[in-house]
Amino acid sequence: MPVEWCLGVSPKSLDEFSIETIKQLFLDQTGEVYSNQSVRHLPIPEWDGNLVLLDENNMIRGLLWANKFSATRVRIVAFAIDSDYKGKGWGTKAWNHMVDSARGQGFKEIQLEVRGDNEFAIEFYRNRGMEIIQTLEGYYRAGIGYVMRGNL
Ligand SMILES: CC(C)(COP(=O)(O)OP(=O)(O)OC[C@H]1O[C@@H](n2cnc3c(N)ncnc32)[C@H](O)[C@@H]1OP(=O)(O)O)[C@@H](O)C(=O)NCCC(=O)NCCS
Repeated sequence: MPVEWCLGVSPKSLDEFSIETIKQLFLDQTGEVYSNQSVRHLPIPEWDGNLVLLDENNMIRGLLWANKFSATRVRIVAFAIDSDYKGKGWGTKAWNHMVDSARGQGFKEIQLEVRGDNEFAIEFYRNRGMEIIQTLEGYYRAGIGYVMRGNL
């Protein structure tokens, strides 16, 4: 199978191996440490905002996890792509797929939290119409964070 984004299952239905892969992906790409339970309990439904990037061996190489935060707003809970696949358009592909679907379902806004020092991600989101609306103190261990919001 070629590398492709696929619909993901709800985190509570993930097998042990996938959980370990996702924990490692989060650690490598964001520096955040998750327990198995904290991954399993993330409230992500099965929809076009729950996407996994699978490689030729069916290994998870990326993840976009968004949920339906309110009737009008989608929230990105996690977005991470393995170093081998970063900066090659894979993130854009998942983003566009999720945004098209959310628009079609009547959502009007998108929101997320990002670490203040994550310039690449902040730029990625700015280029997609999002802006910083709030600074978060004490949300991340490593320093400040931002809430970013944009229209869909
Ligand atoms: C943030 C993240 C999810 C974005 O995904 P990505 O696959 O790296 O993003 P893309 O490759 O689609 O786009 C990033 C940039 O790469 C470049 N790019 C896009 N497609 C490209 C291609 N086909 N070839 C070369 N470069 C490309 C572009 O400059 C693009 O920037 P722009 O479209 O905003 O101008 C990813 O970099 C990541 O996992 N980062 C670490 C974890 C993280 O910070 N997550 C966000 C936490 S809130």
